[in-house]
Amino acid sequence: MTLSTTDDRTPRVGQGGAAAGVAVNAVSKAFGGAPVLREVSLTIERGEFVALLGGSGCGKTTLLRIIAGLEIADVGTVVIGGADVTGLPPYERPVNMMFQSYALFPHLTVADNIEYGLRAAGVERAERTSLVVWALRLVRLEGLGRRKPDQLSGGQRQRVALARCLVKRPSVLLLDEPMAALDRGLRDEMQRELVRIQRDVGTTFVLVTHDQDEAMSMADRIAVMDAGRIVQCGPPRVIYDQPASCFVARFVGRVNLFAGRVAAGRPGATEIATDDGLTIRARGQAALGAGSSCTAAVRPEKLLVSRLPAGLANEYHGKLEDLAYFGDVTRASIRIAGGRVVEATLGQLERSSGAPLAVGEAVVVGFDEAAPVVLTA
Ligand SMILES: Nc1ncnc2c1ncn2[C@@H]1O[C@H](COP(=O)(O)OP(=O)(O)OP(=O)(O)O)[C@@H](O)[C@H]1O
Ligand SMILES: [Mg+2]
Repeated sequence: MTLSTTDDRTPRVGQGGAAAGVAVNAVSKAFGGAPVLREVSLTIERGEFVALLGGSGCGKTTLLRIIAGLEIADVGTVVIGGADVTGLPPYERPVNMMFQSYALFPHLTVADNIEYGLRAAGVERAERTSLVVWALRLVRLEGLGRRKPDQLSGGQRQRVALARCLVKRPSVLLLDEPMAALDRGLRDEMQRELVRIQRDVGTTFVLVTHDQDEAMSMADRIAVMDAGRIVQCGPPRVIYDQPASCFVARFVGRVNLFAGRVAAGRPGATEIATDDGLTIRARGQAALGAGSSCTAAVRPEKLLVSRLPAGLANEYHGKLEDLAYFGDVTRASIRIAGGRVVEATLGQLERSSGAPLAVGEAVVVGFDEAAPVVLTA
């Protein structure tokens, strides 16, 4: 193997170097008769950062292992860099995987830990050395190469594990909950670092997480999974603003869901009669037949809470039941007629206009016609 350095930060060696796209085509997998993945299809562009987001047990790790070749799909194919790798063993695929519970070799130094895989792959010594230097710099651990893992912080160990994966220059890097063991502050920092590293190396990243904030802040696109299926895939903003179902709306962000039936539907304007007797007006939605069941989803930050009606298309009288202060935002719970509790995020404006709202006050909560997303699933 030769070292053909295009610039000194990105040596083109190891398993190939160039980022590759991934296509998972109608993959299904069952364990002992229990379906774990059901006809999963996902296309990941070269150099893209995709997050697989879903609750525990929905099949995220299994999907990652199938891409890596550590698990074989019952049906379906996996294509990496344009080549069908469905029948190939893991070591013949241009991918590397950082496991949910990764472990460093405790008796090896940081540098030796990073070098280990290169040695096993038969990379020459001079090249190994320059790659380790490159990887240490990439994860900002220059100068710590001679330490042992137990002389590092949790975040630093995390970076070593990442460097160990990246040093082999995979075309695709699969990361299974890489931040799970870190505390909040460190996690935020590593999330930013990981995005920076991905931009620097240009490798295709597939990140598994059950943390919606992590997926939202890091990924180019999010694939939301539920019970072995990808239920929606798109950029974070689309997932948040146009969820495809109640499940996605609830899973990503906070939401008020008003279930009911279409009372009157014209193209572009829908009136919904909710099960608890409210009327909700929504604009800019696909036309639905009168009587069809649907749910209006309204994000808390779209709700306005005031003492007097503000003239919005949807307004309900209620009582402020709770205020939870989070520093940047305050979450208000308002019980409205019919008994339902809605959640509203109070912005600076609402908090600073006049005397602050107090728990127990009679209030009006409202949102305009553009606020609801009408869901049929
Ligand atoms: N080797 C296996 N044998 C039998 N069942 C398995 C095996 N691997 C996974 N499963 C089952 O498949 C389902 C999906 O597991 P998977 O590890 O893919 O979930 P996950 O989405 O990664 O969850 P988590 O967020 O908890 O890591 C689970 O019900 C799990 O128990
Ligand atoms: Mg998992």
